[in-house]
Amino acid sequence: MLAFPKDIFTEPAHVDPNTLDNLGPLRRLAGSWQARKGIDVNPKAAGPERRVYIERIDMVPIDPQANGPQLFYGLRYHIHINTEEEDITFHDQVGYWLWEPATGLVLQTLAIPRGQVLLASGQATADASRMVVTAERGQTEYGICSTAFLEYAFRTDRYRIEIDYHADGSWSYAIETVLSVRGQDAPFVHRDQNTLFKTAEPQPNPLAKIVAARAAKA
Ligand code: HEM
Repeated sequence: MLAFPKDIFTEPAHVDPNTLDNLGPLRRLAGSWQARKGIDVNPKAAGPERRVYIERIDMVPIDPQANGPQLFYGLRYHIHINTEEEDITFHDQVGYWLWEPATGLVLQTLAIPRGQVLLASGQATADASRMVVTAERGQTEYGICSTAFLEYAFRTDRYRIEIDYHADGSWSYAIETVLSVRGQDAPFVHRDQNTLFKTAEPQPNPLAKIVAARAAKA
């Protein structure tokens, strides 16, 4: 059982407005990213389908967020994926990456337009070169929630993402989404992996811009 404070209302008194200075293990994700060689293995009626994809990711610093005494710094992200063969979006995803400096808690929220959301958690130090977060169906704290059809036909039982940072500034992810596909005995592991290269540096978060503009006027 985690030791939470008795006072659940009082927010931290001194909050640094500059998110980019407080992102800990998420700092190296901030900015815009692109990659051409993602690999997806997804479930199809004829068996697993393997596709190569093109990916763009924006990771935008947000203002510090407090749940009473719990303070998060984070990024709002949007992932857009295409393939060479088709114009239609192959995968779209939005959410937040959050870090709680006081405890090392890392969170990822994920929403995809299949009618599916999840909240994954893990732990990392500020200078980590690797992070893992996981979510499990049925958990009320760090769980997965899907439409009734997905629960019936493609039930998502587990989600895991590992992020590895590289010396040249790029980073890779490996995702395992374990599905229980109706009519199949064995679980299907829907896998995705890619290495992202930076296309633009991040902008400061809105509050940091306001504070900087005020300081420039004074
Ligand atoms: C880079 C990331 C991902 C890509 C490129 C991707 C792509 C795909 C594709 C192409 C399909 C087959 C679609 C179809 O047959 O209509 C699929 C199925 C599915 N994906 Fe993903 N996916 C990704 C990540 C995820 C994640 C993170 C989740 C959930 C946590 C997820 C959940 C599902 C589910 C439940 C299905 C089965 C539903 C269906 O086939 O209609 N996917 N994915």
